[in-house]
Amino acid sequence: MQAVQITEHGDTDVIEYDEYPDPDVGRDEVLVDVKAAALNHLDIWTRRGMPGLDLEMPHIPGSDGAGIVEDVGDGVTRFEVGDRVALSAGVGDLRMDDPTLDPRYHIIGEHVPGIHAEYAAISADNLIPVPDDVDWTVAASSCLVFQTAWRMLIERAELEASESVLVLGASGGVGHAALQIADHAGAEVYATGSTEAKLEYAKDHGADHVCNYETENFADWVREETGGRGVDVVVEHVGAPTWQDSLASLTKGGRLVTCGGTAGGNPETDIPRIFWNQLEIIGSTMATPEQVDDVMELVWDGTFEPAIREELPMSESARAHEIIENREGFGKVVVRPDSELQ
Ligand SMILES: NC(=O)c1ccc[n+]([C@@H]2O[C@H](COP(=O)([O-])OP(=O)(O)OC[C@H]3O[C@@H](n4cnc5c(N)ncnc54)[C@H](OP(=O)(O)O)[C@@H]3O)[C@@H](O)[C@H]2O)c1
Repeated sequence: MQAVQITEHGDTDVIEYDEYPDPDVGRDEVLVDVKAAALNHLDIWTRRGMPGLDLEMPHIPGSDGAGIVEDVGDGVTRFEVGDRVALSAGVGDLRMDDPTLDPRYHIIGEHVPGIHAEYAAISADNLIPVPDDVDWTVAASSCLVFQTAWRMLIERAELEASESVLVLGASGGVGHAALQIADHAGAEVYATGSTEAKLEYAKDHGADHVCNYETENFADWVREETGGRGVDVVVEHVGAPTWQDSLASLTKGGRLVTCGGTAGGNPETDIPRIFWNQLEIIGSTMATPEQVDDVMELVWDGTFEPAIREELPMSESARAHEIIENREGFGKVVVRPDSELQ
């Protein structure tokens, strides 16, 4: 089969789309004929390499994708040949109440081979059914970011309809999902972005108030917009450059929920601001299978919809990485096996 592969850690020139051995299907696995897949910022980290990430090369990336069941292992009862499925990439001990807290928790595509290929053998536990009327691009690009943003806002920050939320990086995968979830929850939604075009999209996806943080300090803007009060919840994933202003955007007793540090993981912080204002800093990663089902139900029925920045053949994966690294566009970048586009 043809598969996207990173041959070593490095820049985009380590990405190839080439022949790779067909996957064997294990007892509890499903062979998926991949129709579409999507990138996450995680694919950039995996390509570049991170401390503690020890991958067998070449590595097939990809933590989001969807397709048709081609074969099933002897132990699989939930799926049969011909079913439509999407990947939910978190792997934890399902006997735990919250598998994301498993010390061995890991993510398909990051720690083990992913789904950016013509075929992938995936544990049945990591597949969810896709309704017949859902487009492949939607099925392939929603699961990771919507589950992340759902857990951040609904489960971890326990957002209430009467509250206000500031979403940073609203044009990104997590950001644009958070906008929609916060809006659906009934909250007043504030959003930041680096261009006017991204901010227009943010308004279309649930933002009530928008700020171009390249031309204005967003913490000052939040204070002004909220009559000096600040917001109840900040959705953080940018990290070092925004951390202090994110804290400064919160009202007393406010909650900052973070899932990432795209632009730096070790910010300076303001301890007096945290204790004096009694702020909560909440970490969040991926979601439990039940939370995935809850949010994906709302994707399948069209309540939430991924915005697609661009759709490319897998052979142009290097360009797909560049779009994310250059912060071009709004939403998700989709890649499809070249054979699907012929
Ligand atoms: N813990 C988890 O479970 C989990 C799950 C998903 C993602 N994450 C993490 O969350 C972060 C966002 O992921 P994503 O897939 O949504 O990423 P993405 O699609 O690349 O979006 C990142 C957004 O951040 C904004 N940004 C601001 N400053 C930036 C900078 N210096 N460099 C790059 N982007 C900057 C950009 O918007 P503007 O240009 O408008 O500022 C961009 O759209 C990543 O760090 C990822 O690893 C964690």
